[in-house]
Amino acid sequence: MAAAYKLDKVFLTQEEIERRADEIGKEISRDYAGKEVTLIGILTGSVMWMAQVMKSIEVDTSIDFLSVSSYGAGTKSSGVVKIYKDLNRSATGKHVIIVEDIVDSGVTLDYLLNYLSGQNPASIKVCSMLDKPTGRRMKLEADYVGFEVPGVFLVGYGLDVDQRFRNLPYIASVAVE
Ligand code: PRP
Repeated sequence: MAAAYKLDKVFLTQEEIERRADEIGKEISRDYAGKEVTLIGILTGSVMWMAQVMKSIEVDTSIDFLSVSSYGAGTKSSGVVKIYKDLNRSATGKHVIIVEDIVDSGVTLDYLLNYLSGQNPASIKVCSMLDKPTGRRMKLEADYVGFEVPGVFLVGYGLDVDQRFRNLPYIASVAVE
């Protein structure tokens, strides 16, 4: 029988997330002063975070999306990354910032860094809303991290469990019934 998930505790409020997104947007603006950045949102979980961060970026910005998935239904990474939708424009010569909702095992990010490096961008950095270092299987870190979180399953602000709860404007833990 399919597991039933129920919201447990609010983990990060909308105000906390959006204050941090604003700080990171301003940091990116300082780091890339005089340059143009290309944000590459990793669908699907990054959409809300990317929309929030980009509002505070003051340098020229273009956006693109890659759709990948390493998690099937459920809460554990399968370790296999698949591309469902490629970039609309090549990353060659661009200052690329990969935008993620969470870095957990790092398997997805490792794949993405290799994939995008192959297109010879001018530079490549990573901005992730959440970082879960306890889950890490790859030795890598995001350059801009919203919040470091413990090893609990979180939903909301783009994060899902079985495609549910992405629309919550805050982040909560879930309980399995
Ligand atoms: C999630 C998340 C990251 C990845 C992180 O994506 O958005 O891309 O897993 O996990 P990892 O560090 O263990 O690789 P998911 O495959 O669930 O797709 P989604 O964004 O559509 O929810």
